[in-house]
Amino acid sequence: MGETTIGLFSSDPWSKRVISLENALSKLGVEVVQVIPWKVSRVGSTNNHLIHSEGFDLSTLDLMFVLDLGANDIGAFFNRIGLLSALTEMGVRIINSVSSTLLMRNKSESMRKLISAQLPVPKTLITESIEDAAEFIRANFPCVLKPITGFGGLGVQLIEREFDLDHIYDYLKFHSQMFGKGAYILQEFIRGPGYDIRALVLDTQVIATMQRVNADSIVTNIHAGGTPRSNDIDVTELALDAAQCVRGSFVGVDIIPDSDGNLWVLEVNATPGWTGIQRVTDFDISERIAKWLIHLST
Ligand SMILES: Nc1ncnc2c1ncn2[C@@H]1O[C@H](COP(=O)(O)OP(=O)(O)OP(=O)(O)O)[C@@H](O)[C@H]1O
Ligand SMILES: [Mg+2]
Repeated sequence: MGETTIGLFSSDPWSKRVISLENALSKLGVEVVQVIPWKVSRVGSTNNHLIHSEGFDLSTLDLMFVLDLGANDIGAFFNRIGLLSALTEMGVRIINSVSSTLLMRNKSESMRKLISAQLPVPKTLITESIEDAAEFIRANFPCVLKPITGFGGLGVQLIEREFDLDHIYDYLKFHSQMFGKGAYILQEFIRGPGYDIRALVLDTQVIATMQRVNADSIVTNIHAGGTPRSNDIDVTELALDAAQCVRGSFVGVDIIPDSDGNLWVLEVNATPGWTGIQRVTDFDISERIAKWLIHLST
């Protein structure tokens, strides 16, 4: 039986998570291929379709793990989804699957799935109508405005100043141009004990959780300056249900408690990092992921 070959797809090949996972896989005897989207070419003709990266035929991979899709430009986004879909058809197992990644990258789609699974989500408005958005804000003030597709808390804002209310159209117009790309997601503000919980789901298990706090903002993402601390609140069932409803294999579920201790699902992330959560976890998460990927690909 030949050596197992696993592709690591990332638009940030020098990130901690890529390097630590590559090391963990190599230590376990896996041949690792770094797949950097702008180094991949697809050549198609009548009866030939080749997808290669720096001369390596990607259709020969046993599995491709998508660490981050990147791609804020629609062209690059379609290209990356296209090549992952083509590789899926060629028999390469893609984690997370393309269909689940598409669900999670689009907050309106993941909200739809969470709602149809009857999971607790904050009251949410999704619209392109600036009038409807302004009306929701007036009716649910203070509330949270966020982009339909985002990263690391970018563009997530709490609308809580009277000033913003008085100038709501300007505020919404500005947000739309900066972050929203023409659509608005507005949500009731879950006022809680000042932290949210990130659960890391691998396959059918919650392998790690952390609480995230940020003294300066409601946005607790580690990328946005949030800090991790250990978590003793059991979110297992809710996190697994959320992961399942978007068919995620390796995901990060964001859950926020309200002041009565009720838990609400904010979103499910298709390409979660684990640098922050590793700081409050007593085993090597990269090694755990590596062993799981090898198990899947053999
Ligand atoms: N309705 C809400 N009530 C209170 N806090 C919220 C609410 N929505 C978001 N937040 C805070 O903002 C943070 C970021 O929001 P969210 O997870 O929805 O977007 P995101 O992390 O930017 O998305 P992505 O990871 O896909 O980029 C949450 O972790 C939470 O701390
Ligand atoms: Mg989030």
